[in-house]
Amino acid sequence: MKTAAQLNQQFGIAGQLSFRDDASGLVVAEFINKFATASLCLQGAHLISWHPRSQSKPVVWVSRDAKMAAGKSIRGGAPVCWPWFGAHASESSFPGHGYARTVPWSVIESGTEPNGATRLTLRLQESEKTRAQWNHDCNVDLTVIIGDTLRMEMTTENTGTSDFVIGEALHTYLQISDIGKVSVTGLEGCEYWDKVGGSNLRKQDGAITFNGEVDRVYINSAAECVIHDAPLKRRIHIKKSGSLSTVVWTPWTEKANKMGDMGQPDGWREMVCVESVNAIDNVVTVLAGNKHTLIVEYTATSL
Ligand code: BG6
Repeated sequence: MKTAAQLNQQFGIAGQLSFRDDASGLVVAEFINKFATASLCLQGAHLISWHPRSQSKPVVWVSRDAKMAAGKSIRGGAPVCWPWFGAHASESSFPGHGYARTVPWSVIESGTEPNGATRLTLRLQESEKTRAQWNHDCNVDLTVIIGDTLRMEMTTENTGTSDFVIGEALHTYLQISDIGKVSVTGLEGCEYWDKVGGSNLRKQDGAITFNGEVDRVYINSAAECVIHDAPLKRRIHIKKSGSLSTVVWTPWTEKANKMGDMGQPDGWREMVCVESVNAIDNVVTVLAGNKHTLIVEYTATSL
């Protein structure tokens, strides 16, 4: 694995992108440009923060109790869930949401976009441990582009000779004023699997508002979602392609208390997850020799 010093030499961009060794032993990429600041942990290719200069508050939320540690996911940011979403279909000892978010990724490219945004591409590193859970020949690459818009592209390339099926998500935690004061539009009329109190198929009636735990997998929709946040005087737009499921999640008090890293007593109230996903009805078959790409763009606009 490369050190921060080696990465700075090979991929650093003066005044825009640098790498540092964190006290946890993990390496973190720091972005700063005319549009935004952001950081990303190389383990998990896990975006930790994104704060456009146009916004008084960050747009991506990270828990004040988030911990960085080898082999552990960070609470907040944009965890990468791959090659399955939620619990593994048959092996209960395999990690929830797959292993991609807890294993090392390598930097393979960096650059500056024509408009001045900063780009970084990472590739998941296979190991004996990952092979034991997923024994297929493939490349998994994540590109993040840090600008006034945050763009994330995840490509799964099947380099083998047989087809495989994946579930996946960019499980982004978005910063809001208060969960009781926001709504999410874009999924009106959509069917969803309601994971609270069993697993029931329901239909969304109107905008989504929150007054208790919400854990829903909306299916068969690539619609743009918008978080309306009147107290923060902004909307967050989530536009995607290559993703037909959207997960909307807030743990609420009881679950947040049990989780222990949500920034108690009320840190969890300042986040909502609107995740760009392929799960359940929408898992993806990647044919031998083919690629599949999930792209998400996040933009905050003022009210
Ligand atoms: C969401 C799931 O995507 O992630 C929830 O729908 C889950 O059921 C949440 O609780 C957080 O998962 P984790 O594994 O990061 O604690």
